[in-house]
Amino acid sequence: MSTWANLGVQDSASPLMEQLIFFHDHALLILVMITVLVGYLMFMLFFNNYINRFLLHGQLIEMIWTILPAIILLFIALPSLRLLYLLDEINEPSVTLKSIGHQWYWSYEYSDFNNIEFDSYMIPTNELSMDGFRLLDVDNRVILPMNSQIRILVTAADVIHSWTVPALGVKVDGTPGRLNQTNFFITRPWLFYGQCSEICGANHSFMPIVIESVPVNYFIKWISNNVNS
Ligand code: CUA
Repeated sequence: MSTWANLGVQDSASPLMEQLIFFHDHALLILVMITVLVGYLMFMLFFNNYINRFLLHGQLIEMIWTILPAIILLFIALPSLRLLYLLDEINEPSVTLKSIGHQWYWSYEYSDFNNIEFDSYMIPTNELSMDGFRLLDVDNRVILPMNSQIRILVTAADVIHSWTVPALGVKVDGTPGRLNQTNFFITRPWLFYGQCSEICGANHSFMPIVIESVPVNYFIKWISNNVNS
């Protein structure tokens, strides 16, 4: 999760988020180079002493400063498209989680395991324990196995919500009447925090997501305990 003075992106916990960060840094570097160049040229215009008063056209320079930016844009567009299609790829998921957005909480279903289902509400500030995170902790966490391909299905029961967990690189809208799909792979055991990111009503800010990533055998223990009860 994001903590004090963390102005950049969170550490990635999935290969796709890692790629997203690489692409962000790549695009930012190009952006900085263009800004510095254009800034330098504009600054230098102040000291123009009108040497070329009779210059009316320049075919060559027009050609260069038209084609060059187009080529630079290609260097952003092609990696961007690669990532876009990579994000949509589904690789034989071993667990499927279904999350349903409600006003204003998330509910989850593990359809692979005798349809375990539960609601996940934010813990109100006045009920928060000393080690809890305000506006971010929930009563029932999503338990998921690490080092496994996980498919997530997102939908909503009332208005549009968005299931968003930055460290995993997941951001999928839950839309009433539609079932959206994505997948991710968690690389380490940890708690991952997320929030709804579609403006869904008065308590939009108060429907956080907490994922508890655990080793696979722990996940199996947890799931079998819940199937029997
Ligand atoms: Cu649900 Cu915003």
